[in-house]
Amino acid sequence: MSSLAVVAALAALLLIPAVSTASSSQLNYRPIIGILAQENIPGDAHAQGSSYIAASYVKYLESAGSRVVPVRINRTYEEYVKIFNSINGLLLPGGDVDLQKSQFSRVSKIFYDLAIKANDALDYFPIWGTCQGFQQLTVLTSGKNLLTVTDTKAVALPLVFTEAAKNSRLFKNFPKDLLQSLSEENITSNFHSWSLSMQNYSRNAKLKRFYKVLSTNADGKKEFISTMEAYRYPFYAVQWHPEKTQFEWIDKPGMVHTPSAIRASFYAASFFVSEVMKNQHRFPNVSEEEKALIYNFTPVFGGLSSIFVQNYYFD
Ligand SMILES: *[C@@H]1O[C@H](CO)[C@@H](O)[C@H](O)[C@H]1NC(C)=O
Ligand SMILES: *[C@@H]1O[C@H](CO)[C@@H](O)[C@H](O)[C@H]1NC(C)=O
Ligand SMILES: *[C@@H]1O[C@H](CO)[C@@H](O)[C@H](O)[C@H]1NC(C)=O
Ligand SMILES: *[C@@H]1O[C@H](CO)[C@@H](O)[C@H](O)[C@H]1NC(C)=O
Repeated sequence: MSSLAVVAALAALLLIPAVSTASSSQLNYRPIIGILAQENIPGDAHAQGSSYIAASYVKYLESAGSRVVPVRINRTYEEYVKIFNSINGLLLPGGDVDLQKSQFSRVSKIFYDLAIKANDALDYFPIWGTCQGFQQLTVLTSGKNLLTVTDTKAVALPLVFTEAAKNSRLFKNFPKDLLQSLSEENITSNFHSWSLSMQNYSRNAKLKRFYKVLSTNADGKKEFISTMEAYRYPFYAVQWHPEKTQFEWIDKPGMVHTPSAIRASFYAASFFVSEVMKNQHRFPNVSEEEKALIYNFTPVFGGLSSIFVQNYYFD
């Protein structure tokens, strides 16, 4: 047995978390990340079909060296299993759907359960949740909606790092001066009405055991979690929006386009793509891969006052 195989066998035996065992000698330099679509925003004048993905999430991942496959809603479980086995990670984007009743929540749960099973079997499968994606992960892990209303609809905040941030997988390789910018400058965009308060996190054993809090913020009244990562799984969640900085242009409070904000966004995307490179899933053949990629779709320009400057729409 090679020394690597010995390590893997030992890890499996000791149930060492998958997050510490992936080897850099097996990196996948042609990664593909799935982005989950969601039900159209009611009243979206540019909508075609019934579901969408904001193009900013696609560009965000592409800018860090990944390709993207849209994961469409309203498909069968069997189709999702096929997609899961073909992609290297999943991004759950922001938006505004029901976290327990929507198709978005249904498909999130299918992929979350598949990812837990895969990671337990040392098949490294990362998930990233942004804003609504963060919130969806809290619902999936706790089995409940523990969110609370906060005054955070259009505000840029500096992150309040916890002690754990320094040694976290997500932040440990960020340059020191960038961490300083993140903690001192108002460069993380918050566009949410709901948050996971530190109080509800601390009182819920499932959440507390599962996620390590890396940063918090407050709206003046409630302290809420702004960044976290799972202890034993390559799951990451940000309540703020790294993708908006470079790729959304609505002109309103909370939007930031400064060099340090853009740099922070790139480091976040690059970190997630480096995680996804540890996964070896692939499409059964090139023609299946070709058919699935986002390049088969054309984004629609919603105008400069649109919350998402371009969207991909799906039937
Ligand atoms: C998904 O399917 C349900 C019925 O199964 C339907 O009511 C709903 O409109 C569909 N949603 C989308 C976005 O296609
Ligand atoms: C805790 O969660 C409940 C929902 O179970 C919610 O109603 C409440 O506002 C939350 N409280 C705080 C402080 O987050
Ligand atoms: C900057 O962040 C602080 C919290 O540290 C917040 O109170 C303030 O509203 C923010 N300012 C802007 C312009 O977003
Ligand atoms: C690619 O794989 C699909 C699904 O397994 C199969 O139906 C198809 O025939 C294959 N195409 C080629 C060109 O091998």
